[in-house]
Amino acid sequence: MFILKGCSVQVIATAVFFIFGRTNKKLMLMKLLDGKVTLITGGARGIGKALAIRFAEEGSLIAISDLRDDEQMQATVDEIAALGVKVKGYASNAASYEDSELLAETVIKDFGRIDVLINNAGITRDNLLMRMSEEDWDAVLSVNLKSVFNLTKAVQRTMLKQKSGSIINMSSVVGVNGNAGQSNYAASKAGMIGFTKSIAQELGSRSVRCNAIAPGFIETEMTHKLPDDVRQQWVSTIPLRRSGKPEDVANVAVFLASELSQYVTGQVISVCGGMST
Ligand SMILES: NC(=O)c1ccc[n+]([C@@H]2O[C@H](COP(=O)([O-])OP(=O)(O)OC[C@H]3O[C@@H](n4cnc5c(N)ncnc54)[C@H](OP(=O)(O)O)[C@@H]3O)[C@@H](O)[C@H]2O)c1
Repeated sequence: MFILKGCSVQVIATAVFFIFGRTNKKLMLMKLLDGKVTLITGGARGIGKALAIRFAEEGSLIAISDLRDDEQMQATVDEIAALGVKVKGYASNAASYEDSELLAETVIKDFGRIDVLINNAGITRDNLLMRMSEEDWDAVLSVNLKSVFNLTKAVQRTMLKQKSGSIINMSSVVGVNGNAGQSNYAASKAGMIGFTKSIAQELGSRSVRCNAIAPGFIETEMTHKLPDDVRQQWVSTIPLRRSGKPEDVANVAVFLASELSQYVTGQVISVCGGMST
């Protein structure tokens, strides 16, 4: 009887260990963004591409938009598809209200929902105010700031219905601190921060969160345009003494998109090696 009892205790213990062991293993295998649908504007290259790849590695389904559906877009789509997640690329001008409405509609048709929107598309047209044309002012404000209005408005109904969503706006340390020669860019990026904080207040009651990331000096084609001496000078002022990588930004975006940040909204997180304090 004792042996029998001992046996059954052992059997039960083994069964419990087996069931919970498997559940734990399953939990451990779950990725941070499993099954979420993420829409990233300007996703064919630079930071947008790094975000798309990192999100795919965490199990997210990916929709990327860019001005053109060209070889670059196709290469990014292929790279993401190789990670085994559903991915689609869309040619869409984020500065256009009509394009943005159509983009959101098409993504919802193709994927069924949108859990994460990353407003990443951006341009620079740097000059001192004295030499800045009205055209350069308008172009930067419309691609960097109006696009955020366009896309956020286009996805908000879906996220409100879902009673969940994370909107991430790619601002800049320049939007926090200003920068000589970039008044148009700085104004657009500062505008994004005001927008982010307002939308966090408007949509928070339905568990839709809105945060901004303020990258510092990140190595992409945007920063490669700068002369070498200017780049070196920037790097020498960064406490961590290196420029950032697109992946540094992508890791923070994963946090903001995932349940790890479910009590975080209306915030600006700098990813800048300590440049902005
Ligand atoms: N790199 C940095 O150091 C840094 C620092 C702070 C903030 N940021 C911000 O981070 C974001 C990404 O920067 P990045 O360095 O990756 O820039 P990037 O390499 O120049 O890439 C920008 C992407 O946005 C796309 N794009 C431009 N205009 C668009 C439009 N109207 N509609 C849709 N897509 C458009 C571009 O498409 P095309 O290929 O067709 O041009 C490109 O794929 C930007 O918002 C930027 O302001 C960057």
